[in-house]
Formats: sequence, C-alpha cells, structure tokens
Amino acid sequence: MADEKARRIGVLTGGGDCPGLNAVIRAVTKTAQLEYGASVLGIQDGFEGLVEGRAHELAHQEVSGILGLGGTILGSSNKGDPWHYPTETARGKIEIHDMAFKAIRHVERWQLDCLVAIGGDGTMHIARRLSEAGVPVIGVPKTIDNDVPATDVTFGFDTAVSVVCEAIDRLASTASSHHRVMVVEVMGRYAGWIALMGGVAGGADVILIPEIRFRWDSVFRKVDERQTQGKRFTMVCVAEGVRLPDGTEVVAEFDSKRTDAKRLGGAGAVVARAIEQGTGHEARVTVLGHLQRGGSPTSFDRVLATRYGTAAARLACSGQAGVMVALRDGHIEAVPLEQATGELRRVPLDHDLIAAARSVGTSFGDH
Ligand code: F6P
Repeated sequence: MADEKARRIGVLTGGGDCPGLNAVIRAVTKTAQLEYGASVLGIQDGFEGLVEGRAHELAHQEVSGILGLGGTILGSSNKGDPWHYPTETARGKIEIHDMAFKAIRHVERWQLDCLVAIGGDGTMHIARRLSEAGVPVIGVPKTIDNDVPATDVTFGFDTAVSVVCEAIDRLASTASSHHRVMVVEVMGRYAGWIALMGGVAGGADVILIPEIRFRWDSVFRKVDERQTQGKRFTMVCVAEGVRLPDGTEVVAEFDSKRTDAKRLGGAGAVVARAIEQGTGHEARVTVLGHLQRGGSPTSFDRVLATRYGTAAARLACSGQAGVMVALRDGHIEAVPLEQATGELRRVPLDHDLIAAARSVGTSFGDH
C-alpha cells in the first residue's frame, strides 16, 4: 500500500472520444481499487459533469470487460470548458459564463484527492487551469490526432491510422476498376500525423498535410505522371487541416460552444474538384470522418491505454499531481502540465517518414 492520503479519485473523459478511453478508465479504476483500496468516482460527460455535479461511484463490475470497447462509458463533451461554459437562457439564447467555481466546488464536495482527466490538448489546458486553482489533477493524453505536446504518442492514434490504412486498401480496388483519382479526407485537426502515417501505410501516391504547403501544379503533375505510366488510379490522402495553396483552411462550421470553436472539414472535396478541373481525370472523394474514432482500439492502443491508466492511478494514489503521463522513448513518465500545454505537436519537416515516403515516390505536392 502506498501513501494513505490519496484515497478517492475522480476520473473523466474530455473532448472528442477515441478508441482506448474505456481501457484507461478500466486501468485507472482497477489499479486504484485493487492496489490502493481507493474509491473511484466516474464523472459524466467530461467537464460538463464536473460543472453540473453529475457523477457516480465506479464499481469493479462496471469496468470489467470494457478493455476492447470503443467510446467511453462515462460520456464525453467538447463543450464543457468550465471557464467558457455555454448555458441556455430562458429564451433559448446561448451565453458563455465562467463556471469554474462550480467545478472546483464539486471536487471539494466529492472529497476528491485527485482528478484524472483523460483528454487531448483542450482537456490538458483545462487540467492545468484547475491545477493552478489548487485542484490536484493528473492528465492522460488521448486523441486520434496525436498532437498533444510532451508525449511521443497519444492512445487512439494507432487505431485511427489502421482505419485509414484499411480504407485506402479498399478504395484502391474500386479506384483501379474505374481508373479514377480517389481522394480520402482524414481527421487530425492542425496536425498531419493521421494523413502521413495512414497515407504511408496505405501507399497513397499524394499526401497533403498542414505542415507542408502544396501547389496545385505539383499535385496535377503527379496525377498525370501516373496516368502516363499506365497506372490505373491515383490515391490522394488529404488531412482535414491542410492549407490550400492560397493559405486558407477549409472550415465546416464555427460553434462558439466548443472548446475549439472551429470544426474543420471539406478539404477533400476541394482537392477532388481541383484535380478534375486541372487534369480532366475523374475524381471521387471519401470523408472518413468519425469512422476513425469509432470502434474497438487496436492492440497497441489497448496496451498504451493500460500503461497510461495504471501509471495515472499510481501517481494519483500516491499524492502526486500537476502532471500528465507520457510515453517518451518507450518509457512512461510524468511531465508537468505546463509542458503538456505547450505548442501543439505537429509533424516536423525533418521527420524520417516524410523522407521515406518521398523515397518510395509519394508526393507531398510541394515539388
Ligand atoms: O480531435 C479529434 C477530432 O476527431 C479531430 O480530428 C476533428 O477535427 C474533431 O475532433 C471533430 O470534432 P467533432 O467530433 O466535434 O466533429
């Protein structure tokens, strides 16, 4: 038995869901209960539940058998920032208020010794603010986008990449039958990790990511080149956050209730249309969307989620806080929340996978 102080911990999942959340909830709860005799409170719908006081004790049975289950048994929300909390007036108007005092009051009322916040960069920023306000918090990095700073990888990413790879494999056969250009739009927000890894895994001919500014003539040339080489199709993998040659990004909507008001989407359709107009070749677009976030986590994500969850519970139950668990050079470490809320982790231009992709003939639309 470790430190006697941290005996009651809260756990929540914030932001967009991803495969592996339940594996973390299971690992946190089992470790806390079995190794430390602690009780675990499951907070519903991310920070919304913390502000509104919605939570319940997690029984051992509730976290049993959920290792491979997609989504989150606790529910999640990307609209629950306590400092930017949307509330509906009697007239149906949405107003934004500072509700942090309510969140902190619930931590006190529930007598939490520590809050384990599982989420992406938005969640880590909120975790840091709570920590600065005196709430003991441990962060666990989740997101398919893989863009959380201070960790080499977030859980959920590997599953999303597998989905992209399988989708490209499937699209290749129909693209080949019809001699088409297939454009696949993938998620990832302002980072190109999913497009890069998924594109390389699926053997995409063109990969367009936010970190590399592309030119239309370069993309068109690649499509024409494949045509003249007698290749039966061209596969183009587009990150939703890619910047078009004029520097703009393609935004699906703005929603002030969200922690990040901007929702990206539509870049794939723009690229497909431009290719048809610029090359005369028939193009189709597939938006993978939330398929990348749904379903069962891969074995890699289950293992990573279990490592993160057990480490977070050990820290929480031994009185540590103000840190995020992270994977660095193969080892699980605890990094200060200040580091975890630094600049978004985007694809470095000197990443060896960019060089490897170029070596096998993949175009990033920049040459
Ligand atoms: O951050 C995860 C993510 O899936 C991004 O890749 C994507 O831009 C965003 O969430 C979509 O958000 P929503 O689920 O609100 O449409």
